[in-house]
Amino acid sequence: MPLPIRPAVAASPDYPFSPITAPIKLDQNESFADFPAELKDIALERLRHLPWHRYTDLNAEALSDALARHEGWSPAGTVVTTGSNVLIALLIQLSAIGGRVVTVKPNFALYGLDAMLLGAALTEVPLRPDQSFDPDALIAVLGDAQGPESQGVIYIPRPHAPTGSLCELDELERLATACRGWLLVIDEAYHHFTPEDARELARRHPHVVLLRTFSKAWGLAGLRLGYALASDGVAQQLRKLVPPFGVSVLQTVCAQVALEQPGYVKERVAQTLHERERLFKALQHHPSWQPLPSHANFLLVRTPDAAQAHAQLLAHGVLVRRQDRLHGLQGCFRVTVGTPEENDAFLEAAGLAKTRRLSGIGTASEPRMAIPGIDAALAMAHAGNSLDLFEKLLGMMLKNYASWSATSRHLAREPGATAHAELCSSLHKLRGSASILGATRLAEVAAQAENALRDTREPPLAAVERVASTLDELLGHVRHRLEIAARHVPRE
Ligand SMILES: Cc1ncc(COP(=O)(O)O)c(C=O)c1O
Repeated sequence: MPLPIRPAVAASPDYPFSPITAPIKLDQNESFADFPAELKDIALERLRHLPWHRYTDLNAEALSDALARHEGWSPAGTVVTTGSNVLIALLIQLSAIGGRVVTVKPNFALYGLDAMLLGAALTEVPLRPDQSFDPDALIAVLGDAQGPESQGVIYIPRPHAPTGSLCELDELERLATACRGWLLVIDEAYHHFTPEDARELARRHPHVVLLRTFSKAWGLAGLRLGYALASDGVAQQLRKLVPPFGVSVLQTVCAQVALEQPGYVKERVAQTLHERERLFKALQHHPSWQPLPSHANFLLVRTPDAAQAHAQLLAHGVLVRRQDRLHGLQGCFRVTVGTPEENDAFLEAAGLAKTRRLSGIGTASEPRMAIPGIDAALAMAHAGNSLDLFEKLLGMMLKNYASWSATSRHLAREPGATAHAELCSSLHKLRGSASILGATRLAEVAAQAENALRDTREPPLAAVERVASTLDELLGHVRHRLEIAARHVPRE
């Protein structure tokens, strides 16, 4: 007996993604840094005191209000769901079942997949050969559509994914004016990385909807949260399709905390733009690869052979995403802008780095953390072909530091003056060893924690966790470096 599955679903391919693990992950356009540890702490503390046995708001009203304030949008026009990819399907349900989805080609895979799954006809209008947006071709397609398929949803990513190109706002305005019977959805997943977004345009046209996500610049891809900014009329109907009580207490609280202190996003965006420019310029020197100018947190790179380029990078521990199966993107892969160190590793794997910068750690809000001790050990390993020496050093560090975190957490939970004094002394020692090693940021964080504890300004466990997370970050980075070094340095 065949399974009772709709033919459209049975005929649809799976979402095109194969999980691969690699030390340097530049394949999914995530933020290069995690949600800030201080904000995680605030969110977790709030969550501890909230009831988890109760349902959340019917339509995430409190979060919609906070988002609307942040975006300068009306709360009634703000619709929150668990990821903007959910909204891509809901908007087809709203306006295109039995009708048509029109988008550009190449495009983000979900527009076409959801059209197929939900029973909408699909028209993909090619970008121009230089990957620019062609409003006239789109307007012509809309004019040609007949019958029920002359209505539906138009999806335009701005900036465009996966090329990173940006359509001009006046071209979109022309499209919006020409498609009044359609819902025009501008997918702004990457809008933080462009100088100007499309909110003004959407305010002028009630059939225009903007899609936004917490998965990119906000550094919250794991939280799964996205939202639509629409006219109140469209939002009112769209909300009927959103599962009731769908946004969890965890999602609500984390997003509220992010919206209360959004400053980190700006800093990270500035760093991403700087690093994007650096990668772009460096890639222009590649003998056979060519980067496309990008307005997002990734670069599309054209190569003679995407499979070969992907394998070469992966052999150096760097994971990028092949895009060569998409229309017009033969030989292309996409690389997410990472931390300066990850970008160095990418350039090195691409054969572009002149010198190996084997040390350093940086996050959005923190200065680069140089690690001269590690640097020197790696340089010795590299020059003297003695990876074993470096591994010994690393092994010692890992052992000492892992035991530091465990002992200090234990001490932090112990009441009394003795435990307090021991903890202060342990932080003092850590600070000393970090400075000797040249891990300046860790030394700084340990010193701050020690001072805060001595002045009893902070609960001991909070101070220890802050230091432990800096330590983890440092060790993670050192491990990455070792994995890369292991590929380059012959064993003794
Ligand atoms: C253009 C575009 N739209 C939407 C999404 C999905 O975002 P979310 O994580 O909010 O579902 C992505 C994710 O990569 C994207 O690239």
